[in-house]
Amino acid sequence: MKRLLFFAVTLLAISCSKQQVLSPDGHTHIAFRLTQAGAPEYSVIQDGDTLIQWSALGLSCMEQDLTTGFRLMDIDRESRSERWETVWGEEHWIDDRHHEMTVELEHQSGIRMNIVFRAFDDGIAFRYELVPAQSEAEADDRLIILDEATEYRFTADHQAWSIPWRTEYYEGLWTKSPLSEITDTLCSPVTLEMTNDHYAFVHEAALTDYPAQNLYMADGALKTYLTPWLDSTAHVTPVKAYEQMPFVTPWRMVILARSLPEMVASRIMLNLNEPCAIEDPSWIKPMKFIGIWWGMHMKSMTWEQGPIHGATTTNMERYLRFAKEHGIEAVLAEGWNLGWEDWKHFSFTEPYSDWDMDYLSQLADSLGVAIIGHNETGGNAADYEDVLDEAYAYHQKHNIRAIKTGYVSPIIRTKDGLQLNKGQSGVRHYRKVIETAAKYHICIDNHEPVMPTGLQRTWPNLMTQEGVRGQEWNAWSQDGGSPCNHVTILPFTRIMAGPVDYTPGVFAFENPVMPQTRVHSTLTGQLGLFVCFYSPLQMACDLPENYMRHPEAFRFIESVPCDWERSMLIDGRIGEYCIFARQRRGGEDWYIGGITNENARNITIPLSMLTEGKTYSARVYHDDDDADWQTKPYAYVIDQATFTSTDTIRLRMASGGGLAIELKPEN
Ligand code: NOJ
Ligand code: CA
Repeated sequence: MKRLLFFAVTLLAISCSKQQVLSPDGHTHIAFRLTQAGAPEYSVIQDGDTLIQWSALGLSCMEQDLTTGFRLMDIDRESRSERWETVWGEEHWIDDRHHEMTVELEHQSGIRMNIVFRAFDDGIAFRYELVPAQSEAEADDRLIILDEATEYRFTADHQAWSIPWRTEYYEGLWTKSPLSEITDTLCSPVTLEMTNDHYAFVHEAALTDYPAQNLYMADGALKTYLTPWLDSTAHVTPVKAYEQMPFVTPWRMVILARSLPEMVASRIMLNLNEPCAIEDPSWIKPMKFIGIWWGMHMKSMTWEQGPIHGATTTNMERYLRFAKEHGIEAVLAEGWNLGWEDWKHFSFTEPYSDWDMDYLSQLADSLGVAIIGHNETGGNAADYEDVLDEAYAYHQKHNIRAIKTGYVSPIIRTKDGLQLNKGQSGVRHYRKVIETAAKYHICIDNHEPVMPTGLQRTWPNLMTQEGVRGQEWNAWSQDGGSPCNHVTILPFTRIMAGPVDYTPGVFAFENPVMPQTRVHSTLTGQLGLFVCFYSPLQMACDLPENYMRHPEAFRFIESVPCDWERSMLIDGRIGEYCIFARQRRGGEDWYIGGITNENARNITIPLSMLTEGKTYSARVYHDDDDADWQTKPYAYVIDQATFTSTDTIRLRMASGGGLAIELKPEN
């Protein structure tokens, strides 16, 4: 009896009070409460300032309204402080330090909903765990989710960087506007420049068997709009997800950073994903690659067989030998397989007659260069799923260890009919691809993907993804190509969500087919991208002959790594410029890359990241005084110098320009 009374009193105490969890450094805390009606809410306070005021939580489902009618059952607390090793990444080692609070709720229907909150020093996260009602009579473990009530009620009118939610394949230009002026529904992530000069990054982590999050402004709050299922006529339905309890949702996360370097350094998203599911991932290797690719986008080659077919045995042999000579680990070939005539019926096991797969795979092996395969599905994910095993066995047999996949079609055909690729069905398809590829020791470079959410921690064979208005737009976009500021926005928006296959490295700026369209960059700006844009499969996109017009500048591409020990943003402003420094994984050399928008600028780079007492010999690639992306993109200078950690480098970046520096220790 005494024990029962104690239990009842404890429960009463928990349910009346506000609960909170503090970050390890004590600066940030998440508070939780239930309203009178039993609606769960949270708020976030950092250094005494309320950043997110009481905001709704919960799910509305066909069966039950899980946004209200809850009572608090218990609170569970845990902490983690650990360091884990990445298979590849921007950092070799990542610290996961957080405090966790699980709020256990029971709904009036008997369904249990736990909300797991995590407070990190650099942000917050939470997810829902759904458990079916315990009593036999009430038990039904299905839930059809109509919407998620999650909102982020920021307390000030911050500037938000975003793209609209129906941007095809996320290939759009990001724009900035105050939260109060947002009228569209937006893709997740959204990056906020906060009124107190801090930064927030709102996104999700570990998106698994659930629709991708989108965000819209209503009633003063940023609210969640889950990607809907489509009906048989490809129209939006009210259903967002079909779930079987027990299940967990992806994490909702907000990085809260006091500076831009701190935001870029945040690893919350990876920490929220599960550890590596591949027992021995030693077959997964970061690689730089060239490819039979840019020629098709510039229309000097074709994907389909014909007089200017790109992926021929002769061409591929030339590319493979070029890669070998210049220390590039791999070569991609698009248009090697049957199906490009109608983009509908692709074969992933049958090459065109002018592509000798056996010969090329043996040649690649003997040269020690990898072939990167290409599986464009034209958006037919359902048919692709049917032949996945066969396709990957074929690639494995030919020693192809990475495949670029593609889904060119605004709506894809999944096993569930026509669906948005970021809906639940699309999310399931992409996961199936990654897991099947892992069985065959194949890495994936996914084009037209769902926005990344850090799954590469669990499945490191998911190496890179597009989901960006990439370089290809500078070949054929009717609007003339991406403006200079585009590349200075991406590191703080799209690339915060994960590695990007942007394909930097254009060395020839003339566009004979579309003279009004071009790359808005200087040659040095293209070099800077190799450091500023992170991708463990990093393509140097231009043709070998264009690289050989500037062999001295190409040296930077030859030597820059794509796997890092440490990475940092030295300086930057979203949409204006950025300077990144990264140290080679397992090595001592450092690489610095910079890019700027249409404004030329002088910048100062302190070299304090270098090891004290060591002297570094440097090759510094920078824009010449009269360089300009429009009038003189090829005007670059390469300087040699030595530096120590107490030195500072001062350089000018031209309009649309950049810089690239390689620093190797001498002693
Ligand atoms: C779109 C991809 O983004 C591009 O890289 C590829 O060349 C084409 N689809 C053809 O698959
Ligand atoms: Ca694309």
